[in-house]
Amino acid sequence: MRKNIVLIGMPGCGKSEIGAGLAKRLGMEFVDADAYIEEHWGRIPELFKLGEAHFRDIESRAVAAVSLKRNCVIATGGGVVLREQNMQALKRNGIVVFIDRPLSRLLDVVDTSYRPLLAEGRHKLAELYEQRLPLYRKYADRIVDNSGTLEDAVAAAVSATKEE
Ligand code: S3P
Repeated sequence: MRKNIVLIGMPGCGKSEIGAGLAKRLGMEFVDADAYIEEHWGRIPELFKLGEAHFRDIESRAVAAVSLKRNCVIATGGGVVLREQNMQALKRNGIVVFIDRPLSRLLDVVDTSYRPLLAEGRHKLAELYEQRLPLYRKYADRIVDNSGTLEDAVAAAVSATKEE
């Protein structure tokens, strides 16, 4: 039974697509923390209407629950690194992989329509990137570049997590 593989990184960095591809390649279960939240608590934009802190509390509960799983690839929400307790729970049974996609590529691909934090506009993405990059680096056990194709990124993630 393998440790979980936990993907962190900015909105639009490819956590969900890479996570699904990686899980398939390794024969592991894929868990999307945002989907878990929506299944149990309702739509994320609705949760944000009650304030970001409300969303973060729910996110922490979801993270605590999915961290208990085994043999899973877990894609997290971009803000999971904002709470130390989230990362401690995820690291207890998982190896953390930062999916590193350059800001210019994030700006090309990110869909702001269903991401409440990006509602102010794309400049917000650059602001979040600057704030969070040190946190993603701090918590990363491995870093996988995603400036090329999805296939390249999945292959890089497979080799980065081979020893686990
Ligand atoms: C968030 C990112 C979203 C989602 C929520 C908050 C963030 O997930 O968890 O809207 O704080 O960056 P993705 O990273 O999958 O977009």
